[in-house]
Amino acid sequence: MRLQFSWGTTRFVILVGTVAIKFARLRPFRALYRLAKHQMNGEVRVKLVKFDGRPFIGGIKYIFAGIIANRNEYRLWHTSPRYFLMPTLYSFGGGLVNVQELGKSISQEELDVSHPFQEILAGMPPEFVYDMTRSANFCRYKNRTCLVDYGSEETFILFLRPQSRDAYRLTT
Ligand SMILES: Nc1ncnc2c1ncn2[C@@H]1O[C@H](COP(=O)(O)OP(=O)(O)OP(=O)(O)O)[C@@H](O)[C@H]1O
Ligand SMILES: [Mg+2]
Repeated sequence: MRLQFSWGTTRFVILVGTVAIKFARLRPFRALYRLAKHQMNGEVRVKLVKFDGRPFIGGIKYIFAGIIANRNEYRLWHTSPRYFLMPTLYSFGGGLVNVQELGKSISQEELDVSHPFQEILAGMPPEFVYDMTRSANFCRYKNRTCLVDYGSEETFILFLRPQSRDAYRLTT
């Protein structure tokens, strides 16, 4: 059986058989390193506030970002499945481990011509648009282009709203 590994900034992923097993990465040491770095350039507060309006909560969210992403993905898929989201089958350990269907990686050129929700990105913040148009966050699955990384708060809020036209059941 083929076994592959992939690293994201918040998850470590094992690709095996027909699934992708996504392990949340805890980042206390990286958090300390970044804290020290931003302390030196005086940007601690600015950086933490990016994760949450409250700096302390921002720090906690940074450390547990992988768990939060896994929990968001599982919840979003089970409350509001879309044809362009990679199905998230299981979640264990309060978000420590998620299991998704396995997709096939795609090139940036392929994504550019088959992006499934380009039109709703108009007017969104540039950082979010960048993330939602990176081929590393998409895969081919059952002849569709699917987003595999939908654990951020922004994606959660954006796709939680009911939109019957792209509901998963309508196209499968
Ligand atoms: N369902 C899947 N099928 C195939 N490959 C996957 C799947 N889910 C994730 N991957 C691979 O693992 C990598 C990391 O996964 P993902 O983007 O979800 O993690 P992340 O830590 O949230 O990423 P980021 O660095 O964008 O924050 C992806 O770029 C992709 O190559
Ligand atoms: Mg990613």
